[in-house]
Amino acid sequence: MKRFHSLAELSHGEIRDLLALATRLERHPEPAALAGKILGLLFFNPSLRTLASMQSAMARLGGSSIVLTPGQGTWKLETRTGVVMDGDAAEHVREAIPVLAGYVDALGIRSFAGGGDLAADLADGGFREMAGLCPVPTVNLESAMDHPCQALGDWKTLDDLGVPSQGKFVLSWANHPRPLPLAVPAATVHMAAARGMEVVVLRPEEYALPEPVLERARKAAALSGGSVRETSDRAEALEATTSIYGKSWSSPVHYGDSQAEALLRRNLTDWCIGPEWFERAAPECRFFHCLPVRRNVVVADAVLDSPRSAVVRQAHNRLWAQMAVLHRLLGGQR
Ligand code: CP
Repeated sequence: MKRFHSLAELSHGEIRDLLALATRLERHPEPAALAGKILGLLFFNPSLRTLASMQSAMARLGGSSIVLTPGQGTWKLETRTGVVMDGDAAEHVREAIPVLAGYVDALGIRSFAGGGDLAADLADGGFREMAGLCPVPTVNLESAMDHPCQALGDWKTLDDLGVPSQGKFVLSWANHPRPLPLAVPAATVHMAAARGMEVVVLRPEEYALPEPVLERARKAAALSGGSVRETSDRAEALEATTSIYGKSWSSPVHYGDSQAEALLRRNLTDWCIGPEWFERAAPECRFFHCLPVRRNVVVADAVLDSPRSAVVRQAHNRLWAQMAVLHRLLGGQR
């Protein structure tokens, strides 16, 4: 494997190979597999899980990591092309990334969506351009439109919990005080479709996912035998579902217009996932969320604190999934 940018770049067999390796590393540690290897971690945006689990993954495999957060103890980095750099940024990624690549064996980059221009964010150009500057293998730590480390960990969680691969998977929009990126919903809907699930995206009309996001998931479903559809009919969507994945995202209709979206969300406070959402679900239905999550806005305490909640297990599976990715990228032995 030369890079880890998206599950959509991997075949079903390659994903299954990573999942098997993740489980093997969970059961049988390999504390020297990446001895002497160094991972660079470039975070343009905050993180708890991705930062900590990547460093832990590298250490547990015998390697080490360097964390850089531009503008916080490191020069602020310019990412735009062709600009006059007379502002805050002292250095351009065109120099910084090749320089870093000389110090490390692989580089992870977190670079969120700009949130102002939907077409630009759908193209995911910011992450792709930076990865293109890097001569060593790159890992997407969440870009504008993807979060493959989360998706791989979530797939492992579904497997661990015995959620049937043909089961019904509801990705539900949930309320939030701020418009959030599309990366996790895009990665999640693709992951569940690639796993072969009956994927239902439940959302208010104004939060229909952009067509390119659905199209990518439908292509994966066509290969896996799964399906993808959207609805705003909550009762129908939740009927007999085996999984509810909660997540908030920006309205594509009001993309970049936070005031218009704030007005819209005033009437959507009932999109807080509560215990009643599970009344018509399968008895074993579990609740998933990538975290961080705002309690009693996105999801009720009664769900997060119940045995249905898989959110901590999801976060823990990030570690094993990323260890598998690093093992494959940096040449650990099988
Ligand atoms: N889910 C996730 O990526 O969490 P962090 O933003 O804390 O890394």
